[in-house]
Amino acid sequence: MSRASLSVVSDAVTVRVPAKVNLHLGVGPLRDDGFHDLVTVYQALSLYDDVRLSPSSELRVTTRGDGAADVPGDSTNLAARAVAEVARRADRSPRVAIDIDKRIPVAGGMAGGSADAAGALVGAVNLWGLDIGRDELTEIAAGLGSDVPFALHGATALGTGRGEQLMPILARGEFHWVLAIARSGLSTPAVYGELDRLRGNRSVSDVEARRPDDLMAALTSGDPRTVAPLLHNDLQPAALSLQPVLRRTLRAGIDAGALNGIVSGSGPTCAFLCADETSAVNVAAELSGAGVARAVRTATGPVPGARLLSA
Ligand code: C5P
Repeated sequence: MSRASLSVVSDAVTVRVPAKVNLHLGVGPLRDDGFHDLVTVYQALSLYDDVRLSPSSELRVTTRGDGAADVPGDSTNLAARAVAEVARRADRSPRVAIDIDKRIPVAGGMAGGSADAAGALVGAVNLWGLDIGRDELTEIAAGLGSDVPFALHGATALGTGRGEQLMPILARGEFHWVLAIARSGLSTPAVYGELDRLRGNRSVSDVEARRPDDLMAALTSGDPRTVAPLLHNDLQPAALSLQPVLRRTLRAGIDAGALNGIVSGSGPTCAFLCADETSAVNVAAELSGAGVARAVRTATGPVPGARLLSA
C-alpha cells in the first residue's frame, strides 16, 4: 500500500489493484449481522484493475474493459463510496472522476469490486496529499466490504472475522494459476444464501477450530504439489448448485493437467493451480479449446496489494 505524500497534490493518479483467490475458505454459521464468520487464506494474483482518479466537477465512475457494462457508474459503486468516505473524513468535496480499466471479472468471486474500492482509497489519499495512515485506511476499507482490506494488503494472508481481519502468511516462491471466467456472474449474497439453504438445520462447527494449518505450512514450503490437495472452499457446493455447469469446467482443468481446481470465493470463476508456468500455459490452451469458459487467463501469485503507478 502506498502512503500519502504530504507535499505533492497531483492532477491525476493511477492505482493498480490485484484480484484474489481464496486457497481456503471455511464458512461458519450465519451471524446476527447477516455475515458469516470466516477463516480464509487469500492470495493476490497478477490479474489487475487500474483505477485512475482525477479532479472533476462531480463524483462519477466510468468503467471500460471486461464486463464494464455491468458496473454501476453512480454513487452506489464501491469505488465511489470509497472516495466519498475519504472526502468525508478529510472534510472536502468528493469531486473526482474515477476511471476503471477492468480485467478482473465482474461478479466473478475474485473481489474485483473490492479491488476497485481499495484502488480508489489509495488514489484519493494520494490525489489530495492526505496524511491518512495504513491503520485508518484499513479501517475505512473494512467498512466498505469484507475483501477490501485484503485488496490493500495483497500477498498471501489469513483472513478471519468476516474476512477483514488479516494476518500475513509467508508463502515462498511463485504459484502459477489458470483462471476460467464463466459466461455469467454470481451474486455473493445469493451464494452465501444457497450455502445456508444446503446446510439447513445441520449444526456448523466453530470456524476458529478449522484453521488451515497444513495449508499454511505448505505455502511456506513453496511447493505447489503440496499446496494443491489442500485447496478448499466451503462455498463451492453452493456455487455448483447455482451453476451446475461449473462441474464440467473443474473437470476440464484437472483433465488438462492442473494439480487441482477450485471455485474462487463465491464463484463462478474457477481457479486451477499448476505445477509451473509451462503447465499453466498448456492448461489454459486446453481449457480455451474445451469451450467451458467465456475467457481463460493465466496469473501468478502472490503479488502486492494496491499500489500507485503514476502521479
Ligand atoms: O462484505 P461484502 O459487502 O463483500 O459482502 C457481500 C455479501 O456477502 C454480504 O452482504 C453477505 O451476504 C455475504 N457475506 C457473508 N459473510 C461474509 C462476507 C460476505 O455472508 N463473511
